[in-house]
Amino acid sequence: MQEFTIRACGEEDAEALAKLGGQTFRETFAAVNTEEDMRRYVENNFSARALAAELKNPLSRFFVAESGGAAVAYMKMNFGAAQTERVSENAAEVQRLYVAAACKGRGIGTRLLSLAGSCAKEAGASVLWLGVWENNFAARKFYEKLGFSRVGAHTFVLGGDAQTDLIMQKNL
Ligand SMILES: CC(C)(COP(=O)(O)OP(=O)(O)OC[C@H]1O[C@@H](n2cnc3c(N)ncnc32)[C@H](O)[C@@H]1OP(=O)(O)O)[C@@H](O)C(=O)NCCC(=O)NCCS
Repeated sequence: MQEFTIRACGEEDAEALAKLGGQTFRETFAAVNTEEDMRRYVENNFSARALAAELKNPLSRFFVAESGGAAVAYMKMNFGAAQTERVSENAAEVQRLYVAAACKGRGIGTRLLSLAGSCAKEAGASVLWLGVWENNFAARKFYEKLGFSRVGAHTFVLGGDAQTDLIMQKNL
């Protein structure tokens, strides 16, 4: 099994993150959404331009895991006002955590999430939270195993569909 390394991203990673973001989003959700909804969502949210703008936000941080020279997983964190929701005082958000299908189950997600915990603590947060689609049972199990529990829910719009995301959090 090939080793992987994790590093923080900069603006120069916009294109690679857009590609990996679109690919992993499709791998995770294509089977349960229409092609039209997927196409529109990926086009709007995973263009190099969209990623470049997100990478410029000083209150967001991206990390990528690489293996054999290829980007295989990434995580986006939000701090302060960049969080997509105000869950509690002193919180930080993991907005996205995606491992390429071929590299799942190798401990990469665990390492990234543990890094999120230390970054959040360093930034003075006492709570780490994330939203996960209610029917994404594999991810829910993964987060539960790593100490997250459900504290609420919010609506997430994908194309013509309104879906429910559970909010899960962990005290740091
Ligand atoms: C969920 C995800 C981030 C986990 O990352 P990963 O690198 O595959 O997970 P790890 O290898 O670190 O696994 C950690 C533990 O969780 C468990 N786990 C991981 N994926 C699982 C799954 N699909 N079903 C059940 N358990 C799972 C593993 O068994 C492992 O336990 P172990 O250490 O006792 O073997 C990753 O599978 C992924 O990107 N999935 C698709 C995208 C997604 O759903 N992202 C979350 C959106 S909110």
